[in-house]
Amino acid sequence: MSKLAISPLGVQDIVLFDQHMQRHVAESGRGDYHFMPFEPDGSEGPKSLDASKLALKLTDKSWQRWWVARSADGQKIVGHIDLKGGELKTQLHRCELGVGIEREWRSQGLGKNLMQVAIRFCRLAPSIDWLDLNVFAHNKNARALYANLGFVELGTYVDRFRIGAGSIDDVIMVLDVRA
Ligand SMILES: CC(C)(COP(=O)(O)OP(=O)(O)OC[C@H]1O[C@@H](n2cnc3c(N)ncnc32)[C@H](O)[C@@H]1OP(=O)(O)O)[C@@H](O)C(=O)NCCC(=O)NCCS
Repeated sequence: MSKLAISPLGVQDIVLFDQHMQRHVAESGRGDYHFMPFEPDGSEGPKSLDASKLALKLTDKSWQRWWVARSADGQKIVGHIDLKGGELKTQLHRCELGVGIEREWRSQGLGKNLMQVAIRFCRLAPSIDWLDLNVFAHNKNARALYANLGFVELGTYVDRFRIGAGSIDDVIMVLDVRA
């Protein structure tokens, strides 16, 4: 069980957060498996955080909430989890989850702790009924983590991404937050 502190991301954390994301993105597909749909040396990457979305209500389109885990000395952000509301009003009973931990801090219980924070948040939010995520089929650890927390696999986008010479299947998972 990881003892690293988890807290909501605030605007004061943005610099540390950007540094964490750069390190995290750089790990995808380098030395181990791909977990992001981008070429490791390509020009594309995840969109940078729009801090104005953190203040939106859960009934507003495109709201976001992020939590971060800090190293024991507090000097680094080493993991994150995010929830995002959809771009349509008609989607706001669902939200999309993303999670990532830097390699050195994986397999120590932090992923589970971050997931529990996000799931608890959704359970306490009257507007959210479903939690959605996508995970690459080869990411067995992540799939096991999600399944152990009650996520169900709905299906697979076969050959959804092609990175270099490799084809990646993408699994759709969902948690019934009210169950
Ligand atoms: C996937 C990820 C979030 C899991 O977080 P983590 O801190 O490594 O996982 P935890 O230590 O909390 O373990 C939780 C569960 O994951 C699975 N798991 C984690 N590491 C594992 C390993 N090395 N071998 C097998 N299962 C593992 C187990 O089911 C474990 O449950 P258990 O401890 O009850 O056996 C993290 O490894 C990560 O960020 N990986 C890179 C980015 C990524 O894959 N993001 C997800 C994209 S969808």
